[in-house]
Amino acid sequence: EEMASPQEERTFIAIKPDGVQRGLVGEIIKRFEQRGFKLIALKMVTASQDHLKVHYQDLKDKPFFPSLVEYMASGPIVAMVWQGLEAVKQGRIMLGATNPLASNPGTIRGDFSIQTGRNICHGSDAVDSAEREIAHWFKPEEVSGWKRTVDSWIY
Ligand code: TYD
Repeated sequence: EEMASPQEERTFIAIKPDGVQRGLVGEIIKRFEQRGFKLIALKMVTASQDHLKVHYQDLKDKPFFPSLVEYMASGPIVAMVWQGLEAVKQGRIMLGATNPLASNPGTIRGDFSIQTGRNICHGSDAVDSAEREIAHWFKPEEVSGWKRTVDSWIY
Protein backbone atom coordinates (compact mmCIF):
# COMPACT_ATOMS: atom_id res chain seq x y z
CA GLU A 1 0.00 0.00 0.00
CA GLU A 2 1.16 3.50 -0.86
CA MET A 3 -0.14 6.57 0.97
CA ALA A 4 -1.89 9.31 -0.97
CA SER A 5 0.35 12.26 -1.84
CA PRO A 6 -0.22 15.30 0.42
CA GLN A 7 -2.72 17.13 -1.76
CA GLU A 8 -4.78 14.01 -2.30
CA GLU A 9 -7.37 12.42 -0.03
CA ARG A 10 -8.86 8.97 0.17
CA THR A 11 -12.52 8.41 0.88
CA PHE A 12 -14.61 5.36 1.65
CA ILE A 13 -17.60 5.07 -0.67
CA ALA A 14 -20.07 2.20 -0.37
CA ILE A 15 -23.01 1.20 -2.54
CA LYS A 16 -25.62 0.11 -0.03
CA PRO A 17 -27.79 -3.02 -0.43
CA ASP A 18 -30.56 -1.04 -2.19
CA GLY A 19 -28.07 0.39 -4.68
CA VAL A 20 -26.81 -3.10 -5.50
CA GLN A 21 -30.36 -4.52 -5.78
CA ARG A 22 -31.38 -1.70 -8.08
CA GLY A 23 -28.47 -2.23 -10.47
CA LEU A 24 -26.74 1.08 -9.75
CA VAL A 25 -23.23 -0.28 -9.17
CA GLY A 26 -21.94 0.60 -12.63
CA GLU A 27 -23.62 4.01 -12.63
CA ILE A 28 -22.03 5.02 -9.32
CA ILE A 29 -18.57 3.73 -10.25
CA LYS A 30 -18.87 5.50 -13.60
CA ARG A 31 -19.51 8.87 -11.97
CA PHE A 32 -16.43 8.68 -9.75
CA GLU A 33 -14.24 7.43 -12.60
CA GLN A 34 -15.45 10.09 -15.01
CA ARG A 35 -14.93 12.86 -12.47
CA GLY A 36 -11.27 11.89 -12.31
CA PHE A 37 -11.03 10.01 -9.03
CA LYS A 38 -8.93 6.86 -8.87
CA LEU A 39 -10.35 3.57 -7.64
CA ILE A 40 -7.82 2.00 -5.26
CA ALA A 41 -9.91 -0.68 -3.50
CA LEU A 42 -13.12 -2.54 -4.30
CA LYS A 43 -15.00 -5.52 -2.92
CA MET A 44 -18.50 -6.90 -2.53
CA VAL A 45 -19.35 -7.93 0.99
CA THR A 46 -22.45 -8.76 3.00
CA ALA A 47 -21.49 -7.09 6.26
CA SER A 48 -22.40 -8.45 9.68
CA GLN A 49 -24.46 -6.33 12.05
CA ASP A 50 -21.46 -6.22 14.41
CA HIS A 51 -19.25 -4.83 11.62
CA LEU A 52 -21.88 -2.21 10.77
CA LYS A 53 -22.34 -1.18 14.41
CA VAL A 54 -18.65 -0.22 14.47
CA HIS A 55 -18.90 1.52 11.09
CA TYR A 56 -21.84 3.62 12.33
CA GLN A 57 -20.58 3.93 15.96
CA ASP A 58 -21.18 7.71 16.00
CA LEU A 59 -24.93 7.10 15.44
CA LYS A 60 -25.40 4.41 18.08
CA ASP A 61 -27.76 6.51 20.20
CA LYS A 62 -30.02 7.55 17.31
CA PRO A 63 -33.52 6.07 17.15
CA PHE A 64 -32.94 4.85 13.60
CA PHE A 65 -29.71 2.99 14.47
CA PRO A 66 -31.19 -0.55 14.75
CA SER A 67 -33.10 -0.27 11.47
CA LEU A 68 -30.07 1.29 9.78
CA VAL A 69 -27.86 -1.63 10.83
CA GLU A 70 -30.49 -4.17 9.80
CA TYR A 71 -30.93 -2.59 6.35
CA MET A 72 -27.19 -2.34 5.77
CA ALA A 73 -26.77 -6.04 6.67
CA SER A 74 -29.68 -7.14 4.48
CA GLY A 75 -27.64 -7.82 1.35
CA PRO A 76 -24.34 -7.29 -0.39
CA ILE A 77 -22.62 -3.92 -0.32
CA VAL A 78 -19.98 -2.73 -2.79
CA ALA A 79 -17.22 -1.18 -0.67
CA MET A 80 -14.70 1.09 -2.38
CA VAL A 81 -11.85 3.50 -1.74
CA TRP A 82 -11.50 6.44 -4.11
CA GLN A 83 -8.51 8.76 -4.16
CA GLY A 84 -7.95 12.24 -5.55
CA LEU A 85 -8.02 15.95 -4.85
CA GLU A 86 -10.46 16.72 -2.01
CA ALA A 87 -11.95 13.27 -2.51
CA VAL A 88 -13.84 13.36 0.80
CA LYS A 89 -15.65 16.66 0.24
CA GLN A 90 -16.24 16.02 -3.46
CA GLY A 91 -17.51 12.52 -2.70
CA ARG A 92 -20.13 14.00 -0.37
CA ILE A 93 -21.15 16.52 -3.00
CA MET A 94 -21.51 13.78 -5.61
CA LEU A 95 -23.63 11.68 -3.24
CA GLY A 96 -25.98 14.52 -2.27
CA ALA A 97 -27.72 15.23 1.02
CA THR A 98 -28.55 12.49 3.51
CA ASN A 99 -32.25 12.98 2.78
CA PRO A 100 -32.68 12.38 -0.96
CA LEU A 101 -35.56 14.84 -1.09
CA ALA A 102 -33.03 17.53 -0.12
CA SER A 103 -30.45 16.28 -2.65
CA ASN A 104 -29.95 18.30 -5.80
CA PRO A 105 -30.68 16.67 -9.15
CA GLY A 106 -27.35 15.62 -10.60
CA THR A 107 -26.27 13.99 -7.34
CA ILE A 108 -26.48 10.23 -6.96
CA ARG A 109 -29.11 10.38 -4.25
CA GLY A 110 -30.93 13.24 -5.99
CA ASP A 111 -31.14 11.28 -9.22
CA PHE A 112 -32.01 7.83 -7.92
CA SER A 113 -33.68 7.94 -4.50
CA ILE A 114 -36.47 9.52 -2.46
CA GLN A 115 -36.10 8.25 1.10
CA THR A 116 -33.40 8.72 3.76
CA GLY A 117 -33.57 5.07 4.80
CA ARG A 118 -32.96 3.95 1.20
CA ASN A 119 -30.41 6.47 0.03
CA ILE A 120 -28.27 4.07 -2.04
CA CYS A 121 -24.77 5.08 -1.06
CA HIS A 122 -22.40 5.98 1.76
CA GLY A 123 -19.52 8.43 1.71
CA SER A 124 -17.11 9.41 4.50
CA ASP A 125 -17.85 12.84 5.99
CA ALA A 126 -14.28 13.86 6.96
CA VAL A 127 -10.68 12.86 6.28
CA ASP A 128 -10.25 11.27 9.72
CA SER A 129 -13.45 9.24 9.49
CA ALA A 130 -12.45 8.21 5.96
CA GLU A 131 -9.18 6.76 7.23
CA ARG A 132 -11.01 4.99 10.07
CA GLU A 133 -13.60 3.55 7.68
CA ILE A 134 -10.99 2.43 5.11
CA ALA A 135 -9.13 0.58 7.86
CA HIS A 136 -12.41 -0.95 9.07
CA TRP A 137 -13.43 -2.32 5.65
CA PHE A 138 -10.08 -3.11 4.02
CA LYS A 139 -6.81 -4.74 5.00
CA PRO A 140 -3.81 -2.59 4.03
CA GLU A 141 -2.85 -5.06 1.28
CA GLU A 142 -6.32 -4.73 -0.28
CA VAL A 143 -5.72 -1.03 -1.00
CA SER A 144 -3.73 -0.56 -4.18
CA GLY A 145 -1.00 2.00 -4.68
CA TRP A 146 -1.26 1.80 -8.47
CA LYS A 147 0.03 4.75 -10.44
CA ARG A 148 -2.32 6.26 -12.98
CA THR A 149 -0.27 7.64 -15.81
CA VAL A 150 -3.00 9.97 -17.10
CA ASP A 151 -2.92 12.01 -13.83
CA SER A 152 -1.14 14.91 -15.51
CA TRP A 153 -4.06 15.31 -17.95
CA ILE A 154 -6.57 15.77 -15.12
CA TYR A 155 -4.73 17.96 -12.59
P1 TYD B 1 -25.66 10.12 8.55
O1 TYD B 1 -24.26 9.70 8.87
O2 TYD B 1 -26.28 11.21 9.36
O3 TYD B 1 -25.79 10.55 7.00
P2 TYD B 1 -24.84 10.28 5.74
O4 TYD B 1 -25.06 8.87 5.28
O5 TYD B 1 -25.32 11.26 4.70
O6 TYD B 1 -23.43 10.52 6.18
O7 TYD B 1 -26.61 8.84 8.65
C1 TYD B 1 -26.18 7.60 8.19
C2 TYD B 1 -27.32 6.89 7.53
O8 TYD B 1 -28.36 6.67 8.46
C3 TYD B 1 -28.00 7.69 6.41
O9 TYD B 1 -27.32 7.59 5.18
C4 TYD B 1 -29.35 7.05 6.38
C5 TYD B 1 -29.62 6.67 7.82
N1 TYD B 1 -30.50 7.67 8.48
C6 TYD B 1 -31.81 7.33 8.72
O10 TYD B 1 -32.24 6.20 8.39
N2 TYD B 1 -32.64 8.24 9.31
C7 TYD B 1 -32.21 9.49 9.66
O11 TYD B 1 -33.01 10.29 10.19
C8 TYD B 1 -30.85 9.83 9.41
C9 TYD B 1 -30.32 11.20 9.77
C10 TYD B 1 -30.02 8.89 8.82
